[in-house]
Amino acid sequence: MMGHVLITGGAGFIGSHLADTLLDRGFEVTILDCLLPQVHGDAEVDADGWPTYLNPAVRRIRGDILDDGVFEAALGGVTHLCHLAASVGVGQSMTNIVDYTRNNALGAAVILETLSRVSHTVRRIAVASSMSIYGEGAYRGANGVLTSPPARTHEQLARREWELSLNGEMLAPVATGEDKPLHPTSIYAINKRDHEEMFLSVGRALGIPTVALRLFNVYGSRQALSNPYTGVAAIFISRLLNDQPPLIFEDGEQRRDFVHVHDVANAFAAALASDLALWDVFNVGSGRSISVNGIAFTLSRLLRKNIAPEILGKYRVGDIRHCFADIGKLEQAFGVRPQRSFDEGMDELIEWVRMAKPPEDRGEACLRELTGSRLVI
Ligand SMILES: NC(=O)c1ccc[n+]([C@@H]2O[C@H](COP(=O)([O-])OP(=O)(O)OC[C@H]3O[C@@H](n4cnc5c(N)ncnc54)[C@H](O)[C@@H]3O)[C@@H](O)[C@H]2O)c1
Repeated sequence: MMGHVLITGGAGFIGSHLADTLLDRGFEVTILDCLLPQVHGDAEVDADGWPTYLNPAVRRIRGDILDDGVFEAALGGVTHLCHLAASVGVGQSMTNIVDYTRNNALGAAVILETLSRVSHTVRRIAVASSMSIYGEGAYRGANGVLTSPPARTHEQLARREWELSLNGEMLAPVATGEDKPLHPTSIYAINKRDHEEMFLSVGRALGIPTVALRLFNVYGSRQALSNPYTGVAAIFISRLLNDQPPLIFEDGEQRRDFVHVHDVANAFAAALASDLALWDVFNVGSGRSISVNGIAFTLSRLLRKNIAPEILGKYRVGDIRHCFADIGKLEQAFGVRPQRSFDEGMDELIEWVRMAKPPEDRGEACLRELTGSRLVI
């Protein structure tokens, strides 16, 4: 036996895939999850309310980390902790600030205080962080110098000047490495940065090797489809399946890094199985970038829908222009590289969407909500 992993949030999208990967590699796996209705409301569930996609070999505990004693009770025999439970909507975090901070920052605090207070057998920790903590990605100026520019101003965005410049000079986006200064622009991202720092500092104090994996845009089967606050690929597929055009902010040329959930699960599994005594952060991305327009066109091609995206020319407050990962540090430490191509991964996501219940399309309702709160301009 490789060890016993407790995955908080293990019934969710990434956690459930990670459970499969860890079981394949000989770990025992327990999940602790409160089955948030926003995430699991549309999933096919068994008689006890668990998603049917969960591996039968997974031991399940239904409970909220924030409730007294729940996390402590889940720790029996656990050797490795993987903390994924969180509220994950970047846009939603800007209106539900108390809920997000309670679940994300206080959730981390409960886990860490429990680990420091009770006797347990945890010898390694991996925690999910996010690319959102970078804010803008890294850029290079015409003189070749790497730079970490501040966020675009409202004035610039009001002029619909989407690209970054510094002192009048245009900047070119380059892959973002872990040493880029952090400029989180949403409550979710601020929670995630705090989260990362809290885990690394307490993990070090307790002598438990701890890694924070900064996940880029993760996609794949089991992704919640009707939750409009999360993955853009799933939202676009929902729209296209309803014969609606994907709604695209700005001009659609903003670039992101889409990484398949199996590659993310591999990265977590490698970090958990490693013997390296370290307290460090690692990017987990595909190492390739794609524009939001590119995603929309790829999906309409794969879905055989002749529907062009609708370019809104509006911007979401706090959105960044470009960010994609430099993945060299993860490979160097743990020897893992992403395996899935974008088309391959999207085909699999589409297959999942076809088999899932037809999603309710909340795209326009969500857009109205964000516009009403002055978060889309
Ligand atoms: N999906 C992405 O693209 C992405 C990108 C960067 C980081 N992340 C991070 O990865 C982690 C997993 O994300 P996901 O996409 O699988 O999300 P998800 O919403 O599918 O899964 C999260 C799970 O956590 C559970 N949960 C939430 N609060 C809980 C609590 N207080 N107690 C117990 N369970 C709770 C939910 O019920 C859900 O099953 C999160 O920490 C997220 O911030 C995800």
